[in-house]
Amino acid sequence: MGILTTIRQRESLSFPARPAVPHSPLTIVGGGIIGLSIAFECAKRGLKVIVLEKTACGGQATGAAAGMLAPYSEIGEDPDDFFTLCHHSLKLYPDWQQEVRTVSGLAFEYTRSGSLYLAFHEADELALKSRLEWQKEWGVQAEIVRGQALRNLEPHLTQEAVAALYYPDEHHVYTPDFVQALLAACEKMGVHIVQHAGEVRFKEVTADGLLLETGEKGCFSTDQCVLASGAWTSFFEEPLQLRLPIFPIRGQICAYEQGQEEIKHIIFSSQGYVLSKGNGTIVCGASEDIAGFDTSTTEKGISRLVKWSRYLFPFLKDKEPFHCWAGLRPATQDGYPLLGRLRHQPNVILASGHYRNGILLSPVTAKVVADIIEGRQPAVNLKMFDPLRFQ
Ligand code: GLY
Repeated sequence: MGILTTIRQRESLSFPARPAVPHSPLTIVGGGIIGLSIAFECAKRGLKVIVLEKTACGGQATGAAAGMLAPYSEIGEDPDDFFTLCHHSLKLYPDWQQEVRTVSGLAFEYTRSGSLYLAFHEADELALKSRLEWQKEWGVQAEIVRGQALRNLEPHLTQEAVAALYYPDEHHVYTPDFVQALLAACEKMGVHIVQHAGEVRFKEVTADGLLLETGEKGCFSTDQCVLASGAWTSFFEEPLQLRLPIFPIRGQICAYEQGQEEIKHIIFSSQGYVLSKGNGTIVCGASEDIAGFDTSTTEKGISRLVKWSRYLFPFLKDKEPFHCWAGLRPATQDGYPLLGRLRHQPNVILASGHYRNGILLSPVTAKVVADIIEGRQPAVNLKMFDPLRFQ
């Protein structure tokens, strides 16, 4: 049975309105972890895919990320469909990363470290307890640890930490290697990746399709296009006649060379996070600055991280970071991603604005977008992520 026949049969399941069966490759704008993950999933499902990346794949927010897969530590507020999206994506990760590994034949770090969310005062424990209560209802593995139990888990942690929420299921990946493996996996699946394409813009938008013009690599016509261009997605506001309030929030990070002392878990606090990476570094992040598209680091941003990481781990007092960098997180006005097909321009699907959770959300985003393209009902409720909600 041909792919077109399969897709036509699936049309009877029709989720939202979609254009005619694609006869040109699906075109994904953006070769970060979101764009490449969508490409990988769609290629696995038999679609022809092109990825247009302005610079090098994984060169923006993806490459700068500390790679934490930590929804329970990062989302402390009440549960909602965003929490469900993150929770679901974390559960997909073990199989997802294994598939990337198998198809690409490349190795990358995926460490099942667990995490500790710290409290420094007895009063802060109340917040940990209420978080634990609602998260338990969602099946999250978690417990509060104190005293010797906490020191056993993390021997070099400051004595100032009185308790922590321990999440054994939070993990981390080394994103520069992971994204290279994902890129190789896409290529093995036949995805056509166009790197260094320059700016991509919509030259023609009609009911039948789109003509995308790139700064460096010519034009590409397509029936359907996915915008996965992170903090740059707002540049498509005008041609799409749509409000796309996505803006860059800079995250500054620094890294120390690891000596004898290892940090065993991802350590979260209200001020930032610290973790040991498999490449022998200790990474500390991250600031949240408004600095436009500037990816430089600042003395103020890095010194705050240094101060805080030394407070958490006094052995860092003898060390200076050897490397500092910054990435631009794609933030949206309400903090939630834009996921879905545009009702007024159904050839275009949005998959942008993942803010602090792009690495974590990549598998679920890939599956949701592939479902939308195939006309299937996605496994998660997307109402909250409607790309038209800011109109
Ligand atoms: N998810 C961690 C960060 O955005 O810094």
